[in-house]
Amino acid sequence: MAQDEEAKMRDFVDGLPVRDLVDGAITVGQVAGEDVVLVRRGDDFFAVGAICSHYHGELSLGLVAGDTLRCPLHHACFSLRTGEALRAPALDPIPRWHVERIDDRVFVREKLPEFGRKQLCRSDDGQKPPASVVIIGGGAAGLGAAEMLRREGYDGPLTMISADDWPPYDRPNLSKDFLAGAAPDEWMRLRLPVYYREQKIDLLLNARVSALDIPAKQVHLENGAMYGFEALLIATGSEPVQLQIEGATSSQLHYLRTFADARAIVSRAASARRVAVVGASFIGLEVAASLRSLGIAVDVIAPGSQPMERVMGPEVGLMIRELHVAHGVVFHMGETVSKIDGSALLLTGGGKVEADFVVLGVGVRPSVSLAEQAGLTTDRGIVVNEYLETSASGVFAAGDIARWPDPHSGEMIRVEHFVVAEQQGQVAAKNILGRRVRFDAVPFFWTQQYDVAINYVGHAEQWDSVEIKGNLHAHDCSVSYKRGEKTLAFATISRDLENLKAEVAMESRKV
Ligand SMILES: Cc1cc2nc3c(=O)[nH]c(=O)nc-3n(C[C@H](O)[C@H](O)[C@H](O)COP(=O)(O)OP(=O)(O)OC[C@H]3O[C@@H](n4cnc5c(N)ncnc54)[C@H](O)[C@@H]3O)c2cc1C
Ligand code: FES
Repeated sequence: MAQDEEAKMRDFVDGLPVRDLVDGAITVGQVAGEDVVLVRRGDDFFAVGAICSHYHGELSLGLVAGDTLRCPLHHACFSLRTGEALRAPALDPIPRWHVERIDDRVFVREKLPEFGRKQLCRSDDGQKPPASVVIIGGGAAGLGAAEMLRREGYDGPLTMISADDWPPYDRPNLSKDFLAGAAPDEWMRLRLPVYYREQKIDLLLNARVSALDIPAKQVHLENGAMYGFEALLIATGSEPVQLQIEGATSSQLHYLRTFADARAIVSRAASARRVAVVGASFIGLEVAASLRSLGIAVDVIAPGSQPMERVMGPEVGLMIRELHVAHGVVFHMGETVSKIDGSALLLTGGGKVEADFVVLGVGVRPSVSLAEQAGLTTDRGIVVNEYLETSASGVFAAGDIARWPDPHSGEMIRVEHFVVAEQQGQVAAKNILGRRVRFDAVPFFWTQQYDVAINYVGHAEQWDSVEIKGNLHAHDCSVSYKRGEKTLAFATISRDLENLKAEVAMESRKV
């Protein structure tokens, strides 16, 4: 047995010498057949589950920061003391065990009760919790908020209104495993239907809010229904930018935002031989990778010289292009579609591409019309303060629509990242309960294309230098996006731990 495997099989019940436990290091072993990690922090010892409750990331490969444990895959943050999932994307706690030190040995004893719902206390300023909460949006931010409101002990009426036809689901997976046929429908839910019943979350699906009356504290639905609220969270996300193409029929063009969109693409892909993807952003490229895994020929047509160049720079863009080319994707960069004639796409450069259907991934815009019409302050998104409160007291915004003061860049920013949306929903929930928690997480996103996953922390809209360490083309590297000496953002491939370390350093403003 390899040494690593042997270490993983070590039974913590037998105890370990204290001197073997280095402060902040993670030691792996087992208790009654369950994988456990043991962590020392000064004179405190913690034993928690070794598997992330999000997508089973190995926490033994993660990072200890203060008394938290971070997952290497998508940066969920767990409390070592309680096992609570402090920050999304994990929502469920990890198990924890009682640890006992006797002289110079540490023993892991019985499993402790799972971290549960808290008792609701009054807010910091002694206010009562709101009489009712309405959340507009059943996506990442909406669910993050609803879940946190209940976790924090809020037991008042809680209504979540969603235009979607499905309960909150794993939107990032639509272009990845779901499209590639590797994730069945039932894996896509963030919570099972029973959860909403048990938690008394009134989840309205296929329900679109058509107007907000903030002075009257009412939301009006398209179907004529009206809901009153004392606190409101707007989490309406984004909608795809629509492209008008001469000659195109609506049945030829697909966008990918909702589960219904993804199901429509999957159904078309079942009989397709060639698909054109317009746009070389993350979503377009993930779609290309998933369709290639189904054996479908893919052409990518996009302006610009390299895919994903605007966010990741030309060097990473070139690597991504080569990755896709190696998997058989044909690129038509620097071009757009001027016209569609039957199954032929005529390109601005004079070329022609045949396609059974077209997926358009040309960006999204935040869904701010309700907020604008209600008179909230907007600026390419809904403007919020550090507590995610809008220009109207008691009205919060989170997720793709929120433009917030980012303490790391010192700028008002808005991002379209799943984890940020969930985390903002969580922080907004605490502030709805009067906790006055600042949203100061460092933005994080990831993309998965074939076997290459890119993790990215920070936020860089413009930078003046890019520093690459390692081998970009061997998919083992880190990339720093810098302005002067300051690292604005840090991307890694196959270096998850470095990415976590950069996140923690950015949190403490050390880079
Ligand atoms: C295919 C795809 C792949 C992605 N991959 C990644 C990835 O790999 N990594 C990453 O970090 N991010 C990824 N993203 C982005 C990520 O999913 C979003 O940033 C995130 O979902 C935003 O969450 P949100 O809650 O703000 O909005 P959404 O999740 O879009 O939810 C918005 C909700 O509001 C509802 N709504 C809108 N208007 C109304 C209305 N008037 N009335 C009622 N309800 C309304 C919608 O129906 C929906 O339920 C991906 C997105 C897509 C589409
Ligand atoms: S698997 Fe741990 S955060 Fe996703």
